Amino acid sequence: MTKTVYNFSAGPAVLPKPVLLRAQAEMLDWHGSGMSVMEMSHRGKEFMSILAKAEADLRTLMSIPAEYKVLFLQGGAIAENAMIPLNLLAGKGADYAITGTWSQRSVEDARPYGDIRVVTSNAADNFTHVPALDSWTLNRDAAYLHVCTNETICGVEFLDMPDTHGVPIVADMSSHILSRPVDVSQYGVIYAGAQKNIGPAGLCIVIVREDLLERASKLTPAVFHWKTQAENQSMINTPPTYGIYIAGLVFEWLMAQGGVAAIEQHNIAKSRLLYDYIDSTDFYNNPVAKANRSRMNIPFRLQDESLNDAFLKGAEARNLLQLKGHRLVGGMRASIYNAMPLEGVQTLVDYMKEFEKSHSM
Ligand SMILES: Cc1ncc(COP(=O)(O)O)c(C=O)c1O
Repeated sequence: MTKTVYNFSAGPAVLPKPVLLRAQAEMLDWHGSGMSVMEMSHRGKEFMSILAKAEADLRTLMSIPAEYKVLFLQGGAIAENAMIPLNLLAGKGADYAITGTWSQRSVEDARPYGDIRVVTSNAADNFTHVPALDSWTLNRDAAYLHVCTNETICGVEFLDMPDTHGVPIVADMSSHILSRPVDVSQYGVIYAGAQKNIGPAGLCIVIVREDLLERASKLTPAVFHWKTQAENQSMINTPPTYGIYIAGLVFEWLMAQGGVAAIEQHNIAKSRLLYDYIDSTDFYNNPVAKANRSRMNIPFRLQDESLNDAFLKGAEARNLLQLKGHRLVGGMRASIYNAMPLEGVQTLVDYMKEFEKSHSM
C-alpha cells in the first residue's frame, strides 16, 4: 500500500492517480507491443499513434482551431522565453506585460534578442494585481505582446486581454492550461511546460497560429524552430516520448472528467474553499486583488511568520506536502492543479483551522 499524501507542489506536481495506475499497468507491455513506451522508436507506428491521439485529444479539449499547429518540444517554458523572440521578432520590437516573477523572467530572457518594451508592470505593488488594461502602453508596431496568464509564484491569474489592434498575443499558460476554457483564437501563441496540468517535466507544448511561422530568424536552432518542427510532427529531434505518452493519458483522463468546462467547476469549488477560509481570518492572508486571484496557485502568509516552521512541520505530519512558498517570496503556497481532489483542499483547510486554534492568543 502506498501512503496517501496531498501534494501541493507547484511543479512537478500531482498527477491523476488513474493515469499513474494505467502507466504502471502498461509499463512493460504497451497494448501488446511487448515494449514499454520508453523503449519505442519515436518514428515507429506505435509511438506515432500515441502522438497523434495526444494531439487530437488536446485539440478537442481546448477547441484548437485548424489553423493552429501543436508542437511537442523539449526545453520547458524557459527555453521558449528565448525562442519566442527568435521565432517572432523579425527585426521588430515586442511588448511585454509584467504581472509577476515569471513574466519578469520572460523579459530578461528575451532582452538579448531585440527591442523588448515593458508596457505595464505591477512590480512596485509586489505583483499583487493586474494593472488596468487601458493603462498598458501598447505599441501598434510590436511583433507581439507577451503575457503570463497565471503567475505560479505570485498567484495572479487573468484572461482578459487588452485590444492589441491585431498584434498577436503570446501567452505563457504553463500553470493553468486546461484548468478552464480559453478562447485559443484570441492568441497567436500559447505555450506551457507540462509539469503542472499536463504531465512530467521535459515536455513543452507550443500552440502557434500558422501565419506566424514565417518570421523566424536564421539563428533559431532547428529543434526550436517552430515551422521546421510543425513540418516534421515535432520530430526534427527525438521528442520527449514518455512525457508525451503520459500527457496523452492525462488528456484522456480529463475527457473522462467531462473536459475543461467540467474541471473548471471543480477548480472554482476548490479555490473558493481555500480563499474563503483565508479571507475569514486575520491569522492567514493572501495579498492578491480578488479579481486577479489564481485558482491554481494560492500563496498565503501567516500573520505571525515565526510560526512558519511549526506550520510546515504540522502539515507534513498530516501528509500535506510541499506547502512552502517559493524561495523568492517566502510564506506558503498551495498549488491545487486539476489532479488535486477537493478532499485534499478540505484536509488542508481543516489543518489550517486547527493550527489557528492551537496558536491563537
Ligand atoms: C508560469 C511559468 N512559466 C515558466 C516556468 C518555467 O518552466 P520550466 O522550468 O519548465 O522551463 C514555470 C515553472 O514553474 C512557470 O510556472
